[in-house]
Amino acid sequence: MPPSPPYLLSPSILSANFLHLEKEIQAVLQGGADWIHIDVMDGHFVPNLTMGIPIIQCIKQQFSIPLDVHLMISQPQKLLDAFLQAGSDILTFHLEAAQNPLEICQYIHKHHKKVGVALKPQTPLEPLFPLLNSVDMVLIMSVEPGFSGQPFLPHVLDKIQQLRQKWNGNIQVDGGINLQTASLAKKAGANVFVAASYLFSHPSPTEQTRKLKKLLQT
Ligand code: DX5
Ligand code: ZN
Repeated sequence: MPPSPPYLLSPSILSANFLHLEKEIQAVLQGGADWIHIDVMDGHFVPNLTMGIPIIQCIKQQFSIPLDVHLMISQPQKLLDAFLQAGSDILTFHLEAAQNPLEICQYIHKHHKKVGVALKPQTPLEPLFPLLNSVDMVLIMSVEPGFSGQPFLPHVLDKIQQLRQKWNGNIQVDGGINLQTASLAKKAGANVFVAASYLFSHPSPTEQTRKLKKLLQT
């Protein structure tokens, strides 16, 4: 079996102070962030509204770090062009929201960007299997999508483990990640870790990022 991809940390700015977004991003970059995770919510697929295209454009103009955009929106196919043009490097859509997921994957690849497919905690792995040759990353949600600060759902560890046994691509885990849960998810086979409140709801996001990175590297 070929080796798994490298361990990466993708801080989610959902828990950042938006009044100081530039400083908040600099803080996690200083701590060793690999990507920046941007949670896009539409108030329809999930019961919350967050950020969208103008914020991605602003971050893209200022930073060269890869932008990992997590679309929690209905009918993602309608907005792919806008999110690609805004500067998404990895564009992840929810399997539950897509009518033709293979077409979305092919479209994103045609535009030379990476594609991820996300699964809610209760969504089984089986509908994902036919797509595995067409995606760069699978995002396993470890909380119900919609809000930061929720506790990690341990039943998703089995799903991560099952997927790792059959696939060597990027497995991202998102929701309730801290030192303890990251360690569990790492053992199960995840290699890309998203964290919002653990990093930003702390006086030093740099220090928290360093701690989490260190765990991933050991
Ligand atoms: C939730 C988002 C997550 C969220 C994680 O719907 O997809 O990326 O920001 O927040 P924490 O790390 O606080 O659980
Ligand atoms: Zn997310």
